[in-house]
Amino acid sequence: MPEPVRIAVATPSRSYDVIIQDGALDRIGSLLDASGAPRRRFVVSSPLVWRLHGARIAHTLDLTASADPILVPDGERFKHLGTVARIYDALVQAKADRGSALVAVGGGVIGDMAGFAAATFLRGIALVHIPTTLLAQVDSAIGGKVGVNHALGKNLIGAFHQPQAVIADPDALATLPRREFRAGLYEVIKYGVTSSADLFDRVARDRRAIFARGPASLTPVIAESCRIKASVVQVDEREAGPRMILNFGHTAGHALEASTRYRRYRHGEAVAYGMLVAARLAANRGALAERDRRALADLIASLGPLPPIGDIPASQLVDAMRLDKKVVGGTRYFVLPTTIGAATVVDDVKDHEISEALAQVGFKR
Ligand SMILES: NC(=O)c1ccc[n+]([C@@H]2O[C@H](COP(=O)([O-])OP(=O)(O)OC[C@H]3O[C@@H](n4cnc5c(N)ncnc54)[C@H](O)[C@@H]3O)[C@@H](O)[C@H]2O)c1
Ligand SMILES: [Zn+2]
Repeated sequence: MPEPVRIAVATPSRSYDVIIQDGALDRIGSLLDASGAPRRRFVVSSPLVWRLHGARIAHTLDLTASADPILVPDGERFKHLGTVARIYDALVQAKADRGSALVAVGGGVIGDMAGFAAATFLRGIALVHIPTTLLAQVDSAIGGKVGVNHALGKNLIGAFHQPQAVIADPDALATLPRREFRAGLYEVIKYGVTSSADLFDRVARDRRAIFARGPASLTPVIAESCRIKASVVQVDEREAGPRMILNFGHTAGHALEASTRYRRYRHGEAVAYGMLVAARLAANRGALAERDRRALADLIASLGPLPPIGDIPASQLVDAMRLDKKVVGGTRYFVLPTTIGAATVVDDVKDHEISEALAQVGFKR
């Protein structure tokens, strides 16, 4: 087994490691012991993820000390309080106590829901993330944001609850559908554009090998993404300032997801469109060189097709953006790239600029 990559995340509320290792699923029990996670462990997963990877994990956990896994559905449509209530029910029935840990095994939806349950059950119990999608490994499992959607908006209900450990096994991504894998890669590109030209270039250069999911190409990309996320989270646990940079592509992206009721686009796909919109807007202002805008558009295009947007009116997205969490006291913050590898946050973006950029990207005028 290769040596694990360990990335330390030190936030004011907790310090923990992100452990990245091929085959880590076969040693979850000992990795949890080493991380100091409580011995009474309750797994939360989805039927699909548990069918694919559960046997390997269950094998390494002391199942006499833990109950059966708590299996809940995991599409974005199920990321609401009703599903979290099923997790509470199972915990109460199994007499989970303050000395118990929740182990979230799945994509970002399972991580966010199990994380919210862990943040709130008995006012907070220990949490470990075992992310099984690329998006969850590079993004959602790190940083402590947990929560669920409200019918009127995404992630409107949530908390900050840092895990005790994050254990990512790149090998688990072998079973991920290509579309899901690509959706995660768009978040990797987000890190490249906002924070690391090297990462951006690496994805462009190694694209085929990354898609083939060979550990030699995949693990460094996951590790670099985690390093960037960890470094931002460390200096700004509660997203008061610098962490906002990681919302690049998420203003228009969230609006697109919400206005199509989370059904048409994967989160990462919506972010890909959001990045194209923000880059257009930045280029229109002269804040981003046309060459850099095109490099981003080309890289996104080279990964494969995105679901179409031509029937969605730009005005519908502009309306949806008003409900976004990134609107604070009436001010709308917008992350704009300034070059490949750096971005800035501005608060003076006008509706007409957004409409124009949306139309240029292909939304209905
Ligand atoms: N908390 C945060 O900081 C944060 C950051 C980014 C995104 N998110 C949230 O993450 C969610 C998206 O996460 P996601 O893209 O992982 O979606 P997801 O959790 O819905 O998973 C996508 C699909 O992949 C399946 N799956 C998971 N692992 C698999 C595997 N190894 N093999 C085969 N199939 C597998 C799942 O069953 C699901 O159908 C969104 O709700 C988003 O808001 C949270
Ligand atoms: Zn995202």
